[in-house]
Amino acid sequence: MLNGKVCLVTGAAEGIGRATSIEMARQGARAVVLADLDENSGREAAALVERAGAEALFVRIDARQAADLRAMVDAAVSTFGGLDVLHNNVGVLEASFTDQLTVDVLPEDVWETVYQVNLRSYFLATKYAAPHLKASLNGPAIVNSASVSGLVAYPSGPAYAATKGAVIQLTKATAVDLAPTVRCNCFCPGATETAMMRARLSMFFSTSRPPGYFPGARRGYEDPHAYVKKHGFRSS
Ligand SMILES: NC(=O)c1ccc[n+]([C@@H]2O[C@H](COP(=O)([O-])OP(=O)(O)OC[C@H]3O[C@@H](n4cnc5c(N)ncnc54)[C@H](O)[C@@H]3O)[C@@H](O)[C@H]2O)c1
Repeated sequence: MLNGKVCLVTGAAEGIGRATSIEMARQGARAVVLADLDENSGREAAALVERAGAEALFVRIDARQAADLRAMVDAAVSTFGGLDVLHNNVGVLEASFTDQLTVDVLPEDVWETVYQVNLRSYFLATKYAAPHLKASLNGPAIVNSASVSGLVAYPSGPAYAATKGAVIQLTKATAVDLAPTVRCNCFCPGATETAMMRARLSMFFSTSRPPGYFPGARRGYEDPHAYVKKHGFRSS
Protein backbone atom coordinates (compact mmCIF):
# COMPACT_ATOMS: atom_id res chain seq x y z
CA MET A 1 0.00 0.00 0.00
CA LEU A 2 1.05 3.56 -0.66
CA ASN A 3 -0.45 5.14 2.42
CA GLY A 4 -0.14 8.90 2.21
CA LYS A 5 2.69 8.92 -0.32
CA VAL A 6 3.36 11.64 -2.88
CA CYS A 7 4.11 9.94 -6.22
CA LEU A 8 5.45 11.29 -9.51
CA VAL A 9 4.93 9.37 -12.77
CA THR A 10 6.46 10.29 -16.15
CA GLY A 11 4.67 9.27 -19.33
CA ALA A 12 1.51 9.24 -17.23
CA ALA A 13 -1.06 10.33 -19.81
CA GLU A 14 -1.55 6.96 -21.47
CA GLY A 15 -0.87 3.25 -21.20
CA ILE A 16 1.07 1.80 -18.30
CA GLY A 17 1.75 5.24 -16.78
CA ARG A 18 -1.92 6.18 -16.68
CA ALA A 19 -2.92 2.77 -15.26
CA THR A 20 -0.17 3.02 -12.65
CA SER A 21 -1.20 6.53 -11.60
CA ILE A 22 -4.79 5.41 -11.04
CA GLU A 23 -3.64 2.31 -9.17
CA MET A 24 -1.43 4.47 -6.92
CA ALA A 25 -4.53 6.44 -5.93
CA ARG A 26 -6.45 3.22 -5.31
CA GLN A 27 -3.64 1.98 -3.08
CA GLY A 28 -3.80 5.03 -0.85
CA ALA A 29 -1.35 7.54 -2.33
CA ARG A 30 -2.04 11.06 -1.05
CA ALA A 31 -1.10 12.70 -4.35
CA VAL A 32 0.01 11.74 -7.84
CA VAL A 33 1.88 14.09 -10.16
CA LEU A 34 1.30 13.07 -13.78
CA ALA A 35 3.98 14.33 -16.19
CA ASP A 36 3.60 13.99 -19.95
CA LEU A 37 3.91 15.70 -23.33
CA ASP A 38 0.24 15.07 -24.14
CA GLU A 39 -1.73 17.69 -22.25
CA ASN A 40 -5.27 16.54 -23.17
CA SER A 41 -4.75 12.90 -22.22
CA GLY A 42 -2.70 13.94 -19.21
CA ARG A 43 -5.47 16.11 -17.77
CA GLU A 44 -7.97 13.32 -18.46
CA ALA A 45 -5.72 10.86 -16.58
CA ALA A 46 -5.35 13.33 -13.70
CA ALA A 47 -9.16 13.52 -13.39
CA LEU A 48 -9.28 9.71 -13.18
CA VAL A 49 -6.66 9.78 -10.41
CA GLU A 50 -8.77 12.27 -8.46
CA ARG A 51 -11.81 10.06 -8.96
CA ALA A 52 -9.79 7.16 -7.53
CA GLY A 53 -9.19 9.13 -4.34
CA ALA A 54 -5.87 11.01 -4.55
CA GLU A 55 -4.95 14.61 -5.25
CA ALA A 56 -3.61 14.99 -8.77
CA LEU A 57 -1.42 17.50 -10.60
CA PHE A 58 -0.71 17.35 -14.32
CA VAL A 59 2.62 18.82 -15.43
CA ARG A 60 3.39 19.15 -19.14
CA ILE A 61 6.94 18.03 -19.90
CA ASP A 62 9.03 17.12 -22.88
CA ALA A 63 11.20 14.40 -21.38
CA ARG A 64 14.01 15.40 -23.77
CA GLN A 65 14.33 18.72 -21.93
CA ALA A 66 16.34 18.79 -18.70
CA ALA A 67 14.67 22.04 -17.62
CA ASP A 68 11.22 20.43 -17.91
CA LEU A 69 12.30 17.51 -15.74
CA ARG A 70 13.67 19.84 -13.08
CA ALA A 71 10.48 21.93 -13.15
CA MET A 72 8.41 18.73 -12.85
CA VAL A 73 10.20 17.74 -9.63
CA ASP A 74 9.99 21.31 -8.29
CA ALA A 75 6.24 21.41 -9.00
CA ALA A 76 5.67 18.15 -7.15
CA VAL A 77 7.63 19.31 -4.11
CA SER A 78 6.22 22.83 -3.94
CA THR A 79 2.63 21.63 -4.39
CA PHE A 80 2.64 18.65 -2.05
CA GLY A 81 5.50 19.44 0.34
CA GLY A 82 7.81 16.58 -0.64
CA LEU A 83 8.23 13.49 -2.79
CA ASP A 84 8.15 9.81 -1.80
CA VAL A 85 7.95 7.87 -5.09
CA LEU A 86 9.41 8.54 -8.54
CA HIS A 87 8.18 6.31 -11.36
CA ASN A 88 10.33 6.81 -14.45
CA ASN A 89 8.03 5.39 -17.09
CA VAL A 90 8.13 7.56 -20.21
CA GLY A 91 9.23 5.65 -23.31
CA VAL A 92 9.23 5.81 -27.10
CA LEU A 93 9.98 3.42 -29.94
CA GLU A 94 11.99 4.14 -33.07
CA ALA A 95 8.90 3.22 -35.11
CA SER A 96 7.16 6.41 -33.95
CA PHE A 97 9.73 8.47 -35.86
CA THR A 98 10.98 6.45 -38.83
CA ASP A 99 10.46 3.29 -40.85
CA GLN A 100 14.25 2.86 -41.16
CA LEU A 101 14.51 0.62 -38.15
CA THR A 102 17.46 -1.73 -38.39
CA VAL A 103 20.84 -0.82 -36.95
CA ASP A 104 22.41 -0.30 -40.40
CA VAL A 105 19.93 2.42 -41.44
CA LEU A 106 18.49 3.92 -38.24
CA PRO A 107 18.78 7.75 -38.51
CA GLU A 108 21.09 9.30 -35.91
CA ASP A 109 18.49 11.80 -34.75
CA VAL A 110 16.05 8.98 -33.99
CA TRP A 111 18.73 7.21 -31.94
CA GLU A 112 19.26 10.49 -30.06
CA THR A 113 15.54 10.98 -29.37
CA VAL A 114 15.03 7.43 -28.11
CA TYR A 115 18.14 7.82 -25.92
CA GLN A 116 17.01 11.16 -24.48
CA VAL A 117 13.48 9.99 -23.65
CA ASN A 118 14.12 6.39 -22.59
CA LEU A 119 17.39 6.74 -20.70
CA ARG A 120 18.65 10.29 -20.14
CA SER A 121 15.30 11.43 -18.70
CA TYR A 122 15.47 8.58 -16.17
CA PHE A 123 18.91 9.69 -15.03
CA LEU A 124 17.94 13.38 -14.86
CA ALA A 125 14.62 12.83 -13.07
CA THR A 126 16.40 10.57 -10.58
CA LYS A 127 19.14 13.15 -10.04
CA TYR A 128 16.68 16.02 -9.49
CA ALA A 129 14.36 13.94 -7.30
CA ALA A 130 17.09 12.34 -5.19
CA PRO A 131 17.49 15.10 -2.55
CA HIS A 132 13.73 15.08 -1.93
CA LEU A 133 13.49 11.29 -1.85
CA LYS A 134 16.41 11.14 0.60
CA ALA A 135 14.55 13.60 2.84
CA SER A 136 11.35 11.52 2.77
CA LEU A 137 10.34 9.75 5.98
CA ASN A 138 7.71 7.74 4.09
CA GLY A 139 9.59 4.80 2.51
CA PRO A 140 11.05 6.52 -0.56
CA ALA A 141 11.34 4.48 -3.75
CA ILE A 142 12.11 4.74 -7.45
CA VAL A 143 10.53 2.41 -10.02
CA ASN A 144 11.89 2.37 -13.58
CA SER A 145 10.08 1.01 -16.64
CA ALA A 146 12.56 -1.24 -18.45
CA SER A 147 11.40 -3.94 -20.90
CA VAL A 148 11.91 -7.52 -21.93
CA SER A 149 13.65 -5.79 -24.87
CA GLY A 150 16.39 -4.86 -22.41
CA LEU A 151 17.10 -8.55 -21.93
CA VAL A 152 16.31 -10.10 -25.32
CA ALA A 153 17.01 -8.65 -28.78
CA TYR A 154 13.98 -8.27 -31.03
CA PRO A 155 14.53 -7.15 -34.63
CA SER A 156 14.24 -3.51 -35.70
CA GLY A 157 14.66 -1.78 -32.36
CA PRO A 158 18.36 -1.21 -31.63
CA ALA A 159 17.97 2.09 -29.75
CA TYR A 160 14.99 0.83 -27.79
CA ALA A 161 16.83 -2.38 -26.83
CA ALA A 162 20.00 -0.52 -25.88
CA THR A 163 18.21 2.06 -23.76
CA LYS A 164 16.10 -0.54 -21.97
CA GLY A 165 19.17 -2.66 -21.24
CA ALA A 166 20.80 0.48 -19.85
CA VAL A 167 17.74 1.24 -17.69
CA ILE A 168 18.24 -2.14 -16.01
CA GLN A 169 21.84 -1.23 -15.18
CA LEU A 170 20.93 2.34 -14.18
CA THR A 171 18.42 0.81 -11.77
CA LYS A 172 21.10 -1.32 -10.14
CA ALA A 173 23.54 1.60 -9.95
CA THR A 174 20.84 3.85 -8.46
CA ALA A 175 19.87 1.23 -5.89
CA VAL A 176 23.51 0.98 -4.78
CA ASP A 177 24.15 4.74 -4.76
CA LEU A 178 20.99 5.71 -2.85
CA ALA A 179 20.97 2.77 -0.40
CA PRO A 180 19.90 2.38 2.30
CA THR A 181 17.51 5.34 2.20
CA VAL A 182 15.92 5.08 -1.23
CA ARG A 183 15.05 1.77 -2.87
CA CYS A 184 15.21 1.46 -6.67
CA ASN A 185 13.68 -1.33 -8.78
CA CYS A 186 12.71 -1.80 -12.38
CA PHE A 187 10.27 -4.07 -14.13
CA CYS A 188 10.44 -5.62 -17.60
CA PRO A 189 7.03 -5.85 -19.28
CA GLY A 190 6.38 -8.03 -22.30
CA ALA A 191 3.85 -6.96 -24.95
CA THR A 192 1.26 -4.85 -23.16
CA GLU A 193 -1.80 -3.45 -24.88
CA THR A 194 -1.03 0.26 -25.11
CA ALA A 195 -0.64 2.84 -27.88
CA MET A 196 3.07 2.02 -28.04
CA MET A 197 2.54 -1.66 -28.68
CA ARG A 198 -0.31 -1.13 -31.14
CA ALA A 199 1.97 1.17 -33.15
CA ARG A 200 4.73 -1.41 -33.13
CA LEU A 201 2.49 -4.21 -34.31
CA SER A 202 0.80 -2.17 -37.02
CA MET A 203 4.27 -1.25 -38.28
CA PHE A 204 5.26 -4.89 -38.45
CA PHE A 205 2.05 -5.96 -40.15
CA SER A 206 2.30 -3.15 -42.70
CA THR A 207 5.55 -4.61 -44.03
CA SER A 208 6.17 -7.86 -45.87
CA ARG A 209 6.77 -9.68 -42.61
CA PRO A 210 4.21 -12.42 -41.99
CA PRO A 211 1.67 -12.06 -39.17
CA GLY A 212 3.06 -13.67 -36.06
CA TYR A 213 6.58 -12.50 -36.85
CA PHE A 214 6.58 -10.44 -33.69
CA PRO A 215 6.48 -12.87 -30.78
CA GLY A 216 4.11 -10.75 -28.68
CA ALA A 217 1.50 -10.93 -31.42
CA ARG A 218 1.36 -14.69 -31.22
CA ARG A 219 1.07 -14.83 -27.47
CA GLY A 220 -1.39 -11.96 -27.22
CA TYR A 221 -1.23 -8.77 -25.19
CA GLU A 222 -0.95 -8.22 -21.50
CA ASP A 223 -3.34 -5.77 -19.93
CA PRO A 224 -1.50 -2.72 -18.49
CA HIS A 225 -3.57 -3.10 -15.33
CA ALA A 226 -1.96 -6.53 -14.82
CA TYR A 227 1.38 -4.83 -14.13
CA VAL A 228 0.40 -1.90 -12.08
CA LYS A 229 -0.85 -3.85 -9.10
CA LYS A 230 2.73 -5.03 -8.64
CA HIS A 231 3.91 -1.41 -8.66
CA GLY A 232 2.14 -0.95 -5.37
CA PHE A 233 4.66 -3.32 -3.83
CA ARG A 234 7.67 -1.79 -5.56
CA SER A 235 6.65 1.74 -4.58
CA SER A 236 5.45 0.95 -1.07
N1 LIG B 1 3.51 -1.53 -24.06
C1 LIG B 1 4.43 -2.49 -24.01
O1 LIG B 1 4.25 -3.58 -24.56
C2 LIG B 1 5.71 -2.26 -23.24
C3 LIG B 1 6.59 -3.34 -23.13
C4 LIG B 1 7.78 -3.18 -22.42
C5 LIG B 1 8.08 -1.94 -21.85
N2 LIG B 1 7.22 -0.92 -21.97
C6 LIG B 1 7.63 0.36 -21.38
O2 LIG B 1 6.64 0.86 -20.51
C7 LIG B 1 6.64 2.30 -20.54
C8 LIG B 1 5.25 2.78 -20.88
O3 LIG B 1 4.89 2.28 -22.16
P1 LIG B 1 3.40 2.32 -22.74
O4 LIG B 1 3.22 1.11 -23.56
O5 LIG B 1 2.46 2.65 -21.65
O6 LIG B 1 3.55 3.56 -23.74
P2 LIG B 1 2.45 4.59 -24.30
O7 LIG B 1 2.93 4.96 -25.66
O8 LIG B 1 1.07 4.05 -24.14
O9 LIG B 1 2.63 5.82 -23.30
C9 LIG B 1 3.82 6.56 -23.28
C10 LIG B 1 3.53 7.94 -22.75
O10 LIG B 1 4.73 8.72 -22.87
C11 LIG B 1 4.41 10.00 -23.35
N3 LIG B 1 5.57 10.58 -24.04
C12 LIG B 1 6.13 10.20 -25.20
N4 LIG B 1 7.17 10.99 -25.50
C13 LIG B 1 7.27 11.90 -24.49
C14 LIG B 1 8.15 12.99 -24.22
N5 LIG B 1 9.14 13.33 -25.07
N6 LIG B 1 7.97 13.69 -23.08
C15 LIG B 1 6.97 13.37 -22.21
N7 LIG B 1 6.10 12.37 -22.43
C16 LIG B 1 6.25 11.65 -23.56
C17 LIG B 1 3.23 9.77 -24.30
O11 LIG B 1 2.51 10.96 -24.52
C18 LIG B 1 2.45 8.69 -23.55
O12 LIG B 1 1.49 9.24 -22.66
C19 LIG B 1 7.69 2.71 -21.56
O13 LIG B 1 8.92 3.02 -20.93
C20 LIG B 1 7.84 1.46 -22.41
O14 LIG B 1 9.10 1.38 -23.02
C21 LIG B 1 6.04 -1.03 -22.66
